[in-house]
Amino acid sequence: MCAQEAQVKAQSLAPYVGSPVPVVERMLELANLRPGETVYDLGCGDGRILIVAAQKHRVKAVGVELSERLAKSTSESLKKLGLSDLASVIHGDLMEVNLADADVVTLYLLRDSNDLLRPKLEKSLHPGARIISHDYEIRGWRPTAVEHLEASKRDHKIYVYTVPMSFAKK
Ligand SMILES: C[S@@+](CC[C@H](N)C(=O)[O-])C[C@H]1O[C@@H](n2cnc3c(N)ncnc32)[C@H](O)[C@@H]1O
Repeated sequence: MCAQEAQVKAQSLAPYVGSPVPVVERMLELANLRPGETVYDLGCGDGRILIVAAQKHRVKAVGVELSERLAKSTSESLKKLGLSDLASVIHGDLMEVNLADADVVTLYLLRDSNDLLRPKLEKSLHPGARIISHDYEIRGWRPTAVEHLEASKRDHKIYVYTVPMSFAKK
């Protein structure tokens, strides 16, 4: 299948809404990143999670983004900030990306989208990998932590899951 056909087939799993910066910072703190680890932001929007991961935590960060416009502007931001050695963006469908080297996956999708993604995460992620989801839980998994955070005048939830312990059915 050519890249263009793959784009047509890809399903939009969430509209673009950026996580407020305090939420991004807390998500990455909760991920407990260690040197040499790799973060994937599935549906990376303007790349703000990649930027904080690379700038503050100095880890490799990979974003996947369906929107060509957002993928392009993220790539330009990373270049401007001098982060292209650590952070990059894949323009494509997050359901198709290889997550074999992911130590941390960040998500800000929708509950139903997390349902669709769950089997892929269960299949691809290694034990000890962490999944950090903004606002929407992953149904059927038990979180290792749930935090509430006030930002941009509303309450945000951050769900933390660890492979494989959190995979026990609720
Ligand atoms: C709610 S935004 C989150 C942006 C960023 N992760 C953040 O937290 O600031 C969701 C993003 O997922 C992207 N998206 C939706 N479906 C996608 C898919 N199938 N593959 C890749 N990206 C997708 C949207 O274009 C949007 O930018």
